[in-house]
Amino acid sequence: MRVGASCKMHTMSATPFVVVTGGAGFIGSHTVDRLIERGCNVAVLDNFSTGKRENLSQWAGKESLEILTVDIGDGIFAALADLEERWGKVERIVHLAAQTSVVHSIENPLNDVRNNYTGTVQVLEYARRKAVCRVVFASSAAVYGDVDTFPVSEDATCTPLSPYGIDKLGSEYWLRYHTSVFGMDTQPLRFFNVYGPRQDPSSPYTGVISIFSDRAAAGKELRIFGDGEQTRDFVYVGDVSRAILLALFAEGGDGNAANVGTGAETSVNELAALINEFCGGKSSISHAEPRDGEILKSVADVSRARERFGFEAETKLPDGLKETVASLQA
Ligand SMILES: NC(=O)c1ccc[n+]([C@@H]2O[C@H](COP(=O)([O-])OP(=O)(O)OC[C@H]3O[C@@H](n4cnc5c(N)ncnc54)[C@H](O)[C@@H]3O)[C@@H](O)[C@H]2O)c1
Repeated sequence: MRVGASCKMHTMSATPFVVVTGGAGFIGSHTVDRLIERGCNVAVLDNFSTGKRENLSQWAGKESLEILTVDIGDGIFAALADLEERWGKVERIVHLAAQTSVVHSIENPLNDVRNNYTGTVQVLEYARRKAVCRVVFASSAAVYGDVDTFPVSEDATCTPLSPYGIDKLGSEYWLRYHTSVFGMDTQPLRFFNVYGPRQDPSSPYTGVISIFSDRAAAGKELRIFGDGEQTRDFVYVGDVSRAILLALFAEGGDGNAANVGTGAETSVNELAALINEFCGGKSSISHAEPRDGEILKSVADVSRARERFGFEAETKLPDGLKETVASLQA
């Protein structure tokens, strides 16, 4: 069944019904903020494994937001049935729900498959059968593994080094399959290192920001593994949620992934110095043995997201970090 034609004919409604899986999480709650502000009816599907209700407490009593406790691994048809009666057809889906720890994915790969791979297929099965117009999916820079050409373009060979990266890449193939076989509009986004307010202090991606921030506030030493010249592309959550909405309300595309980063690389040494400065500059900085298997360089080629849906990261690292450090210390 090709659903593409009916999707293309479906004009955007004044109050689009948007489903956000993982909407109570870090990136999800910022995305919900933007969707509500835009006037959408939003259903959050979350199992609250890492998400928190307080991330959405600013919208308490808002009639255009429904928060449903759902495990996407079990499917999402039943959960949405009542809302479909009230709000009509789901127009678009932002699929962010996932087990996000690379370490946990290595320790318990079956759990990763259930949440991150089967969960994606469950969401896509709903989208296909209900002729949802567009699905945007949170993939990850983890699909690349260790690459040697920078900035990393989407055309680089992907050799993921963890079940987490494998399940994200496998999910991307499922989106592309739905685009090429059923004509569905899909857009996988490969997020780089997202940081900002509401990030979980134990986040596997940005833990270093929380750890440095905690220690710098207490004037304790900041310990860097290796020489500190390893780099990452840190992208502010306000930019990421903006990229998600741009991708969600764009049309067309071939189902191929687009990077979401800044295109700028920051060394861990630079990061430590900035955080220390924002916390009063009381900490000394030391170096320890490098960690086995740590990727030494990561920076996104951001041209595809710019060309395809006009996304450009705007928040400068010092500004975003100031906000983040303040929120972690609040
Ligand atoms: N934060 C980053 O730097 C980063 C980088 C690359 C990709 N990503 C991806 O972005 C998405 C959002 O990540 P985040 O940083 O906001 O993490 P998060 O842990 O804050 O958000 C994930 C949300 O999904 C929910 N969830 C997990 N498993 C679920 C399930 N089976 N059913 C329903 N809900 C479930 C959690 O409760 C949580 O609310 C994830 O898919 C993650 O893999 C994040």
